[in-house]
Amino acid sequence: MIRKYTFGTPFPTDAVVLSLPAEKGPVPYLDLSREGNQVVLTRKLQPEDVLFGLGESVRGINKRGFRYVSWNSDIFSHTESTESLYASHNFLVFFGPGCLFGVYLDDPGRVSWDLGFTRSDTAVITSENGNLDLYVLEEDSLPALARSFRKLTGRSYLPPRWAFGYIQSRWGYASEAECRAVAEEHRKRDIPLDGICMDIDYMEEYKNFTWRKDAFPDLERFSRDMREEHIHLVPIIDAGIRQEEGYPPYDSGKAGDSFCKKGDGSDFTAAVWPGLCCFPDFLREDVRRWFGSLYRPLLEAGVEGFWNDMNEPSLFYTPERLEAALLRTRETASGGDYEALWSLSSAFNSLANNEEDYRSFFHHPSGTAVRHDKVHNLYGAFMTRASAEGFRRFDPDRRFLLFSRSSFIGAHRNGGVWTGDNSSWWSHLKLVLQMLPNLNLCGFLYSGCDLGGFSCNVTEDLLARFLQLGVFTPLMRNHSALHTREQEVYRFSSWEDLRSILRVRYALLPFLYSEFMKAALSDGMYFRPLAFDYPEDPRAVATEDQLLLGEGCMIAPVLEQNASGRYVYLPEDMLMIRFRSPEDYDLVPLDRGDHRISLGLREFPLFVKKNHAVLLCPGGTSTETLDDRSFTVLGRTDTAVRYDLYRDDGIDPHPVLEEHLTPVFLPAAAPSVPVPGVAISTAVL
Ligand code: NOJ
Repeated sequence: MIRKYTFGTPFPTDAVVLSLPAEKGPVPYLDLSREGNQVVLTRKLQPEDVLFGLGESVRGINKRGFRYVSWNSDIFSHTESTESLYASHNFLVFFGPGCLFGVYLDDPGRVSWDLGFTRSDTAVITSENGNLDLYVLEEDSLPALARSFRKLTGRSYLPPRWAFGYIQSRWGYASEAECRAVAEEHRKRDIPLDGICMDIDYMEEYKNFTWRKDAFPDLERFSRDMREEHIHLVPIIDAGIRQEEGYPPYDSGKAGDSFCKKGDGSDFTAAVWPGLCCFPDFLREDVRRWFGSLYRPLLEAGVEGFWNDMNEPSLFYTPERLEAALLRTRETASGGDYEALWSLSSAFNSLANNEEDYRSFFHHPSGTAVRHDKVHNLYGAFMTRASAEGFRRFDPDRRFLLFSRSSFIGAHRNGGVWTGDNSSWWSHLKLVLQMLPNLNLCGFLYSGCDLGGFSCNVTEDLLARFLQLGVFTPLMRNHSALHTREQEVYRFSSWEDLRSILRVRYALLPFLYSEFMKAALSDGMYFRPLAFDYPEDPRAVATEDQLLLGEGCMIAPVLEQNASGRYVYLPEDMLMIRFRSPEDYDLVPLDRGDHRISLGLREFPLFVKKNHAVLLCPGGTSTETLDDRSFTVLGRTDTAVRYDLYRDDGIDPHPVLEEHLTPVFLPAAAPSVPVPGVAISTAVL
């Protein structure tokens, strides 16, 4: 059951697809109060209450005990004290003895979540603007709540199948030759690869939708050559359009009066990578159509995937604020004291992403002006929407890869996300593990982090452990920042071991893809906290470093430096597959309870519940060349196991079950079962 309550005049965010009448009575579960414009919702917490949700946010799977702020922010090098990240996902589930409900605040402005931070026994949610639709969801289980939320907000985005391949990326690939060398190093060493991301270096002076002719002379040929190698190019697109007459995207944007405006009606400008930029008013339908059409030449050149960046939007500085800071420099230079110095340093430190700047410009979604800060968290989501709508217009029958840095609920229907600029830190390996189930709960199934870490210098062991987690994340991309240690797998002396990790991904790819499709198509979750399947087991509910995957699996990656293994809690009997490569693995049946698992640097486990199957194919070095016609089936079964395999890459996918008309049954005893289109050999314990 979903109930809706409306406060003030909410902005239509497009997050919700179900149209419900607003209720008039009191809001269940929450005490409602108002402080000025603010709407404040308070809930007393019992000691056992656990809170899930908030998608991309710092700290644990259980969000209790900290304060989070929904305010999309470019927070490079975030730590566990960072209250806001790149995205805002305002869905929170309360779960405890006799308590199970979810709240969704469809509010694109600033919302704060004091979840037992000020008082450990109280959760306080505050909508700063007080204009919102509040939804309260009630179901009888955690998975049902997740499904109900997806019914409310719509089906998750389906990426193409190749998007489950390994993608290599780095800020700094400055020429076609350099990208070709990356491709060649992978291919010549048989390191699997499906995509290469092009960062801003491919553009002319970092201007969107341009291509540096000196370094990338013929995009179409380059893209075609790469496709012959089964590699997709995935260019980056930023939110800002450089303000420069004669630059076609600016000229056409200007002609359509497409940019956000200052109070005096002139275009708002701020500096980002290309210098002073204007910002498309993505909240306008005509502007989305214009922006979406800018991708067309790239699509025509054969590009099938993009990543959208800097779309919080990130602002390095506005000309006005820079001018004021420079003025202060001149004043300080003529006789400064400490106070003047502090104020000078603060003038420069507050240039980027300044709150006042976000209050200084306007959108015009339907003729009337809406101040940006009131709808700030929608900007990236509506950029994603503009892109996805453009792709659909270009080819409605194809799935395109799209992932964005900034997002809001609703964007999960149009694209995936990566979790922004993490660091090559062990703590950030754990952080992404903890974000993934909450991202799934909020609808963002196609997600992943910069494997290896974006900033700082990765170490060989950290990269190995990141990749071992990445084997299971739908988006599996190695990305790093300019000037950091080179992070491609082949740069390391142990590259063959790292390759084995990627080879496991490809051997599991048909299986992981199927698990993803089943989760997405049933409005379920690909990654879940353990509490979702074991709500009565307090140990499972409190588990913060293991995740359920798909219908019948669990992952428990090593998250610590120099660890030779880890403790794992099994909420039921399972089979452990300890991988070293697709051909080299141990099958270890383990009973419910605690286990110390030894996991050398080359080893990582996948746990399988009883009577579930994991399918391993011989693999390959790209999704297109994957040998996925025969499988080794691993499971701990005492009964027949049916597996619905998805191969379908179309916009209306069906499992092999329907497409090839035969369900796959795997009787425990049968060594091999012929299935049309699929040869199966069983290895069943
Ligand atoms: C910020 C993005 O988060 C990062 O991934 C990218 O490499 C840089 N911008 C440069 O484009």
